[in-house]
Amino acid sequence: MSLAANRNPIASVPNDLEAYWMPFTANRAFKRSPRMIARAKNMHYYTADGRAVLDATAGLWCCNAGHNRDPIVRAISQQAAELDYAPAFQFSHPKAFELASRIASLAPGDLNQVFFCNSGSEAVDTALKIALAYHNVRGAGGRTRLIGRERGYNGVGFGGISVGGIANNRKFFGSLLAGVDHLPHTYNREQQAFTKGEPAWGAHLADDLDRIVALHDASTIAAVIVEPMAGSTGVLPPPKGYLERLRAICNKYGILLIFDEVITGFGRLGWAFAAERYGVEPDMITFAKGVTSGAVPMAGVVVRQGIYDQFMHGPEHAVELFHGYTYSAHPLACAAGLATLDLYREEGLFERARALEPVWADAAMTLKGLPYVLDIRTVGLVAGVDLASRPDAVGRRAYDAMEKAFGEVGVMVRITGETLALSPPLIVSESEIGEIFDKVAKVIRSLD
Ligand SMILES: Cc1ncc(COP(=O)(O)O)c(C=O)c1O
Repeated sequence: MSLAANRNPIASVPNDLEAYWMPFTANRAFKRSPRMIARAKNMHYYTADGRAVLDATAGLWCCNAGHNRDPIVRAISQQAAELDYAPAFQFSHPKAFELASRIASLAPGDLNQVFFCNSGSEAVDTALKIALAYHNVRGAGGRTRLIGRERGYNGVGFGGISVGGIANNRKFFGSLLAGVDHLPHTYNREQQAFTKGEPAWGAHLADDLDRIVALHDASTIAAVIVEPMAGSTGVLPPPKGYLERLRAICNKYGILLIFDEVITGFGRLGWAFAAERYGVEPDMITFAKGVTSGAVPMAGVVVRQGIYDQFMHGPEHAVELFHGYTYSAHPLACAAGLATLDLYREEGLFERARALEPVWADAAMTLKGLPYVLDIRTVGLVAGVDLASRPDAVGRRAYDAMEKAFGEVGVMVRITGETLALSPPLIVSESEIGEIFDKVAKVIRSLD
C-alpha cells in the first residue's frame, strides 16, 4: 500500500464497541445492549437520546456533591488554563498543600499528614506500604503481616486484593502477598436482618483479632485494614462496638489500624469520615471518590503525625519514603478537590446526609415484603437490598434489576452479587428519596 493511500488511517478505524475492555463489567452483555451515558447534571444522568435517569448511586459512590456542579467545573477549567502539571517529585504547587491542610483538618485527632494518590486502590497499597515501612524505620522490621477481613473490598492492587476478602477478586491472581490473614466478616442474616444503622449483634467478632495475634504473635503483625462499613460486598454496617474493640486490640499489641474510607469518606455516613461517626481514631485513613465528587481522579491516605515523624530522620536532602505517583496531587485534581470541599461546607452536605438518614432508612424499608427481598440494610445515605437468587443463575436477578432500572424505569442502581446497593449524591431531596424507592420497588416487582 502506498503512503498516500494510508495517509489517514484514523478514518478507517471503525467506531464500534469492540476495542474497549471494560472493567468489572459483563463485556459481552454490555456490548450487546449498551448502557451509555451522555451527560449529567445534579441528581440525574442523561442518555444520548435525552432520557433522564435518577442517580441513586452517586456514580460509583463518588459524586457526593451531585453531578457537574458549576463551582467544580469552573475550578477545573481555570486550573487547566493556569497550570496543567507540575512534577510531583521534588517539586509541587500551592494547591497540593492547601488541599492537604483542608483534608487533615477534616480528619480526627492527629491524623495530620496527607499522602496523595489517584485511586482508592493506590491509596490502599500506599497505606499498607507506609505501615510496613513505619515498622521498619522504627526498628520493628519483623512486623510484616497484614490483616484484612473476609468480604472486604480494598481495591484491586496486589496489596488490596491480598487483604481483601472477595474470592473472585483473588482466585485468578496467584498467591498474592505472603503473610496475610483475615478477620471474619460481620454479617449474619439471622441476627441482623432488616436493621437500620449498626446492628446490635456482632461486636464480639472483633475479638478474632486476639486469636490471630495468638497464632502469629504480635511481633509479626504490621497492620489491620477494614472498611468501617463494607460497601462493595453488599453494604455491611459495623456492629455496634465492633470498631472500638478492634481499636483496643490493636492498641494492646502495637498494631496499626487502617480504615479504608474510600466509600465512607466525605459525608456518605453523615460525617467527613466514618471514624468521626464511630468515635474511633484509626492510625491511617484511605480516601478517594468523594474528595473531588468524582470529577477528577484523586485519592490519598491521611496518616497520624507520629507515623510521619518516624520517617523524618536522616540527611535532609534524602528522600524519606520511597513511594509516590507521577500524578500524586495533580493540579486539576487539587483544584477539583478544593472546590468540592468548599461545596460540602457551604451547602452543609455532610450534615444534610446525617439529617436525611432516618428518612432514607424508612424509605428503604418500604421494600420489605416485596418479592425476593431477603434483607435490607441502611446506614448514612447507603442502602443494601439482598435479593433471592435464581437457583439456576446466581446474580442474574440483580443484573436484570440493574438493566431494567436503567433502561425502563429511569433510576441507576449498583449491583454486587445479588445485592442492590444505593448511595445517592448527598444533595438528594426527600421527594427524590421517595422517587428512588418507588422506582426500585417497580423494578423489583417486575423481576422473575
Ligand atoms: C473501600 C474501597 N477501597 C478501595 C476501593 C478502590 O478504589 P478505586 O476503584 O478508586 O481503585 C474501593 C472502590 O470502590 C472501595 O470501595
